[in-house]
Amino acid sequence: MLRVLVCVSGGGTNLQAILDAGAKGELGDTEIVRVISNNPNAYALERAKNAGVDAVCVSPKDYAAREEFHAALLDAMNAAKPDLIVLAGFLVVIPKEVIQAYRGRIINIHPSLIPSFCGTGYYGLKVHEAALERGVKITGATVHYVDEGTDTGPIIAQKAVEVHDGDTPKELQLRVMQEAEWVILPKAIRMIADKQ
Ligand code: GRF
Repeated sequence: MLRVLVCVSGGGTNLQAILDAGAKGELGDTEIVRVISNNPNAYALERAKNAGVDAVCVSPKDYAAREEFHAALLDAMNAAKPDLIVLAGFLVVIPKEVIQAYRGRIINIHPSLIPSFCGTGYYGLKVHEAALERGVKITGATVHYVDEGTDTGPIIAQKAVEVHDGDTPKELQLRVMQEAEWVILPKAIRMIADKQ
């Protein structure tokens, strides 16, 4: 049984894709054991609760020092005893203590075909704005292992998505989510579960 912890910050559509895949038996021998958000208002927490998954918020606003937040985040992760940590729109720079504790067992979904449009400052809608600005005809999404860098770890899966003439950033973001993110993130978890 692969124990999976999912970290979120926002709407949680990638989390929902994972939960839906699990409900359909498409994740292999996997259990989503906990969802952690840094944002108490993240709808992703509602999605977790609706699916009966333990959902906790560890907010940096509740700690005087960043180091205390990092320690609380690591404690909340360790308490779930995860085999795999999935960053699904988690807008927190992962503390080095977490990387060291879970090296090779943290994956992230990024809304572009890495190495394009990634690294510091490239997140959420900004990624799609940059792709449209550059005029690429193909973009997509990437699942990769997380290391000390930003979007620099080994690539696990990618899926290409066409850019349509006249796309707005929001329209492109939705297409990349629907056609790529929500497909390759559950698949990546399944691949890792099957290798257990
Ligand atoms: C998505 O744009 C995803 O590509 C990025 O963060 C956003 C998360 O969206 N990693 P959601 O919270 O999963 O809906």
